[in-house]
Amino acid sequence: MDKKVRVSTILKKKADGIKITALTAYDYTFGYLIDEAGVDLILVGDSCGNVCAGHETTLPVTVDEMIYHTRSVRRGVKRALLVGDMPFMSYQETIEQALHNAGRFMKEGRAEAVKMEGGAHICPTVRKMVEIGIPVMGHLGFTPQSVHEFGGYRVRGKDEQEANRMKNNALALQDAGIFSLVLEKVPSELAKDISESLKIPTIGIGAGPFCDGQILVSYDLFGLYDKMNFKFVRRYANLADDVRKAVSEYCKDVWEGKFPSEEESY
Ligand code: KIV
Repeated sequence: MDKKVRVSTILKKKADGIKITALTAYDYTFGYLIDEAGVDLILVGDSCGNVCAGHETTLPVTVDEMIYHTRSVRRGVKRALLVGDMPFMSYQETIEQALHNAGRFMKEGRAEAVKMEGGAHICPTVRKMVEIGIPVMGHLGFTPQSVHEFGGYRVRGKDEQEANRMKNNALALQDAGIFSLVLEKVPSELAKDISESLKIPTIGIGAGPFCDGQILVSYDLFGLYDKMNFKFVRRYANLADDVRKAVSEYCKDVWEGKFPSEEESY
């Protein structure tokens, strides 16, 4: 496998026309498995609120919880660029609050970048972070921390006004210094237009094939979290059924006295 992925590697991939691969991870084991398989970027997503903690939205996730997950993933990840996702209300109050919390992701979580949701209104914060050496990934389109404001999970940027606003926000974020931009649940043609208008790479999730890279929630890709099924998810495994089958076979073996065997005993 080639060498350590850095922010410069991610930018170069766009310049060279090579697609960027990204996935989420929340713990050490999946961190090293995903890293060893060769993904470019690992996001410790606040989607851990859904798939690890069982919340309905990402809103309850705290900075302390994210730091715990980031530290755990960090121990497993050697090659991929590690990005920590700043949770709801950890960067919106003041620039000082945002810097303090981003600093925690870098110092305690040993992340190499942070991600924040939002458009032009977060640009002063992005600018300051980049100035002091914290790389920032942006996130536009369906931004899960705004689910209540949006009133649901619908695709964003379908009408002209919203599409124009999103493109202007993307350009403003690029100007503020982000190194990449997640586009979530956006029509393919709009994602294509935004991707072609930016020098930095777009990373799509439910944003069609024209983005410069793709990201998925790893538990969706593994078929491990099967409580929700979005159209944009492709399941490459069915771990939920594998886990259910393994547990019921284990229980049966214990009940029938078949586990543990002599070889499995001291
Ligand atoms: O929290 C998360 O997993 C994310 C990705 C879906 C981009 O923000």
